[in-house]
Amino acid sequence: MNELGQADGGRRAAVVAIDGPSGSGKSSVARAVAARLGFVYLDTGAMYRAVGLLAREAGVSPDDDEAVTEVAAAADLRVTGDGRVYAGARDLSAAIRTLAAGELASRVSALPGVRRLLAERQRALAGERGLVVEGRDIGTHVFPDAAVKIYLTASPDVRAERRLRQLLAAGHEATFSDVLADVCARDRRDSGRAVAPLRCADDAVVIDSTALTLDEVVAMVEDVVRRRLRTPEGVS
Ligand code: DC
Repeated sequence: MNELGQADGGRRAAVVAIDGPSGSGKSSVARAVAARLGFVYLDTGAMYRAVGLLAREAGVSPDDDEAVTEVAAAADLRVTGDGRVYAGARDLSAAIRTLAAGELASRVSALPGVRRLLAERQRALAGERGLVVEGRDIGTHVFPDAAVKIYLTASPDVRAERRLRQLLAAGHEATFSDVLADVCARDRRDSGRAVAPLRCADDAVVIDSTALTLDEVVAMVEDVVRRRLRTPEGVS
C-alpha cells in the first residue's frame, strides 16, 4: 500500500467495519474517522431505512421478503459519502431519520432476500479507496475479512439519550421513554433475528462509549486503524 489503506498493485483497499447497536454513536464516529483517514464513509443503516420507506410507499408489508426485495431491487438506491441517501433523483435523507423509519428498517432488515441484495451492493462499493462501513453485520457477514473491526456499544440509557437529542435537533417530537423503548425493541429484534444478527465479531476491538466523548472514541478508533494498517497482517 502506498497510502494508508488505499489500493495498491491489484490489492483492494482496506475496509474498516464498525458495528454496534442502535444509538451507540457509529454514524458520528464512522464519519469522523473516514474524514480523518481520507476514506469513503458508508452508512448501511441508511440503505435499510430507505428500503423500509419505499416498501411502505409501495403498499408492501415490511415482513414480505419477496415483495420488499423486489422494491429494493427496482430502486436506484445511492448512499453518498456525506451520509445522504437517494432513490433515483429523490432525496430521502430527511425522511429516513424518524422513529417510524427506524422501526421499518429493523423489520425489513430481518428479511433474507433484502439482506442478500443490500450486502451485495455494499460489497460492490469496496475498491480503490479505503472504506469505513457502519452497520450491524459488517464485520461478521458483509466484510468478514475487513482489515479492522470495531464493535461500538454503550448503555441503553445513554444510547436513548443520544437518539433523543438527534430526533429533537431534526425537529421531531419524541420523549425519552419512547426512545428508550424503541432502542430496547430494536436491540431485541436486531440481535434475535435468524439472518446475520447483530453480534460482536470474534476479532473485533470492543469500545464501550458510555463514559466517553465523541472525540475520545474517534481518537481511539483512528489509533486502532493506523496501527493495524501499518502492520503487514493488517493489510487486506
Ligand atoms: O443504524 P440504523 O439505526 O440506521 O439502522 C436501522 C436498522 O437497519 C437497524 O435497526 C437494523 C438495520 N441494519 C441492519 O440490519 N444491518 C445493517 N448493516 C445496518 C442496519
